[in-house]
Amino acid sequence: MTTSHETHTKIISTGMYVPERIMTNFDLEKMVDTSDEWIFERTGIKSRRISSTEGGEFPTDMAQKATWKALESAGLEPNDIDMIIFASVTPDQKLPNSANLLQQKLGITNKCACMDIAVACSGFVYGVNMANSFIKTGMAKKVLVVGSEMLSTEVDWSDRSICILFGDGCGVAIVGEADEGDTSRILSTHLGSDGSGKEFFNQPVGGAIEPITEQHLKDKSHYMRMKGGEMFKVATRTLAENARIVLEKAGKTLDDVDWIVPHQANVRIIETTAKLLGAPMEKVIVNIGDYGNTSAATVPIAFHEAIQDGRIKRGDLVLFDAFGAGLTFGATLLTY
Ligand code: ACO
Repeated sequence: MTTSHETHTKIISTGMYVPERIMTNFDLEKMVDTSDEWIFERTGIKSRRISSTEGGEFPTDMAQKATWKALESAGLEPNDIDMIIFASVTPDQKLPNSANLLQQKLGITNKCACMDIAVACSGFVYGVNMANSFIKTGMAKKVLVVGSEMLSTEVDWSDRSICILFGDGCGVAIVGEADEGDTSRILSTHLGSDGSGKEFFNQPVGGAIEPITEQHLKDKSHYMRMKGGEMFKVATRTLAENARIVLEKAGKTLDDVDWIVPHQANVRIIETTAKLLGAPMEKVIVNIGDYGNTSAATVPIAFHEAIQDGRIKRGDLVLFDAFGAGLTFGATLLTY
C-alpha cells in the first residue's frame, strides 16, 4: 500500500528540571584530594546538581516536573502523549520501569506504551530517533522522550578520578508529527554501538551475575568504573563520525548547521570534536560548567536551555551528537 504523503516528525516542545542542591568544585575539595583549578582545567566543570535523597527529585520526579513544562509550552494535555520512552541508567527502581511510574505521576490514563532504554549517555538521542521511527510507522503520534539521571547514587564519592565528573538532572522532549508545510522536522538519524568498548566504562556489580554483597559495599566495587583516557579518545572519534553520517544522510554540510548540541562529558572532548569537524565553538552549545555529566540528560538540558535563552530558534538546523557507555552512540539532524 502506498500513502499519499510521507509522515514527517518534529520536536514539538522541551522541558528540564535539575535538583536544587548545587555542589561546587570547592565543595569537592573538602571531600577528596582535588582542586577547583584541576577540575575546571581538565573538564570545564564548575558545579553539578545533586538530587535530594529525601524524595521529590528522584528520576521520575524530575521527569514529571520537566514534562509539565513541555506539555504547558505545547498546550498539550497528559493524555495527548501516546508513548513514553524513558532513557536512564539510574531508574527509580528495578520494576516496574520508570516510564510506567512517570505515566502514573502525569495522570496519563490512555494506557500508552511505556518503555525504558538503558543506553547510558546516548539515551536521549536513541529515544528521539526511536520516536521518529515509531511516528513514521504510525505506531504513535506524540512520544514523550525523557533523559533523567541520578548518577550521584552510582558514584564513589571517595574516588576523585570519577566523582568530579557527574551530576543529576532531567531533560525531555515531545516528538510528534509535523504538519504538511511545517519547516520543523527531523531530517536524518543515526544510531550504533560497539560492544568491544564495554571495559572502558562499566558497573558489573549489582546485576544477575554479581549481586551486591556486603564485601562490595565495603570495598566500594559496586560503583561505576571508568577508564577516562580510553573514553576520551574513543569519544572524540565517535562524535565526529556521528556528525558526518547524519549530515551526509540529509545532504547537508557542517556550514548549514546552526547549532551542535553534543553530549556534555568533558569540555575538552567537545572542543576536540569541534576541531576534528572544523566547526567553530560559537556553534556549539556547552553547559557542562553548571551541571557536569548528567548522562542521558545532557543533550535535552543543553537543548532546552539554548531554546529558552533564545539562541536556538524555530527554523535553525540543529545537530544532536552523543556517545556513552557500551559504547553506544547516535546523532540526530533536525530543523527545530
Ligand atoms: N583532582 C586532582 N588530580 C586528579 C583528579 C582529581 N579529581 N583525578 C585524577 N587526578 C590525577 C591522577 O591521579 C593523575 O595523577 P598522576 O599523574 O600522579 O598519576 C593525574 O591527575 C592525571 O590523571 P589523568 O586521568 O591522566 O587525567 P586526564 O587529563 O586524562 O583527565 C578525565 C581525566 C577528566 C577523567 C578525562 O580522562 C576525561 O574526561 N575522560 C572522559 C570521561 C568521559 O567521557 N566520561 C563519560 C563518558 S560516557 C558517559 O558520559 C556515560
